Amino acid sequence: MKPELDLERAKKVGTKTMDEIWIQGGRSLKGTVSCGGSKNATLPILAAVLLAEGRYRLTNVPHLMDVTTMVKMLGRFGVTSERPDTHTMVIDTRQQQNAEAPYDLVKTMRASIYVLGPLLARYGEARVSLPGGCAWGPRPVDLHIKGLEALGARVDIDHGYIAAYAPDGLRGGTISFDVSSVGATGNVLMAAVTAAGETVIENAACEPEIDALATFLTAMGARIEGIGQARLVVHGVHDLHPADAAMIPDRIEAGTLLAAAAITGGDVEVTDVNPAHLGAVLTKFESAGASLERSDTSVRLRAPERPLPMKVITQPYPGFPTDMQAQFMALLSVADGASTIADTIYHDRFTHVAELQRLGADIRVEGNTAFIRGAESLSGAPVMATDLRASAALILAGLVAGGETRVSRVYHLDRGYERLEAKLAALGASIRRVRP
Ligand code: UD1
Repeated sequence: MKPELDLERAKKVGTKTMDEIWIQGGRSLKGTVSCGGSKNATLPILAAVLLAEGRYRLTNVPHLMDVTTMVKMLGRFGVTSERPDTHTMVIDTRQQQNAEAPYDLVKTMRASIYVLGPLLARYGEARVSLPGGCAWGPRPVDLHIKGLEALGARVDIDHGYIAAYAPDGLRGGTISFDVSSVGATGNVLMAAVTAAGETVIENAACEPEIDALATFLTAMGARIEGIGQARLVVHGVHDLHPADAAMIPDRIEAGTLLAAAAITGGDVEVTDVNPAHLGAVLTKFESAGASLERSDTSVRLRAPERPLPMKVITQPYPGFPTDMQAQFMALLSVADGASTIADTIYHDRFTHVAELQRLGADIRVEGNTAFIRGAESLSGAPVMATDLRASAALILAGLVAGGETRVSRVYHLDRGYERLEAKLAALGASIRRVRP
């Protein structure tokens, strides 16, 4: 998302827009840290509650700005929620009604588009703002639209809004996505669960967050076959009912915490994770020379003295996630040799490169590939976060850079990490949040 829009929004919602993270680099991280619930699993599950009337209890919900934005969005439809404790959410959809998903919320968080499928399924009509682009280029929604059309919806683009209609209800159909899309798979799945007859989704995204959504929908009474596979078959049901769910661990937060250990020569155990969701990322840590110990719910990483260089290519799950690309860019900036990182999901997702260069990283970008020559050391400087994962990358680089690094615009970080600085400080980092 565009930084200026974000800033405007952050002011509106009363966030600490001016907060900075100040880091004194050079400390090895050691200890045990717990990983929170997944943001990207929570967001579609929050949208799915629109499908059935009643009360829901969600646990292990991360306390993040994006979750707050989705809750605000639900508020537009008359859905209320409470947090009896920090990570539990009780949601009530008994007063729910259809309404427009407005630009001011959708532009700040693209995942708002997840309300399109459930609203259309429930009311036969939905009006959701187009999200627009983001800092690293256009992010189309054509696959969401094509998927809903395959279920019999009529979709118009009208004054910046997606207006979808299915006055006689949705009916099952076959959708074969050209590109694997997490968002489009989730949206179509939510629309299909109450559509008449059978829906087949080919080339469905297999990300764990989609499995979590499908599992939640199943708990609500949906009939879905092939969960975890690229071919999902949905048998439409008449009625759904509320369900409770625990959010899965956030594999990107876990990967970021392990990267903090790897970049600082540390020894860190991350608990409350699902190591199976981290397969490609853990393989790359091993390529970097780290030694890993896995249990069912934890990963311990012992870092090499200096990371080894490597080649990284982002791919849909189970490949290496684009959401870990920036963090590996920081790691490989101090590797013992030359590395490449190609992002095949978002070809322009490199806004963090210029900021890492300010810390002394030697990176050149050509097309969708970054060529990184590992430097022996980085040197602290003021830098600016440009998006969520870029913020994490700058913090990681700051942990090894000599002297002080001050990361500004950390409202990007707050969208998707819960108290990252506190977790890193507990592992021995010299890091604090400052309100200048
Ligand atoms: C989700 C994640 C995001 C992650 C991304 C890729 C959430 C809330 N966000 O985003 O953190 O970086 O998956 O793993 O879960 N595309 C189209 N047309 C569409 C939709 C997508 O061409 O209608 C393309 C995109 O430009 C991109 C690719 O498909 O190249 C994958 O994007 P997608 O999986 O849809 O990303 P999101 O669901 O938006």
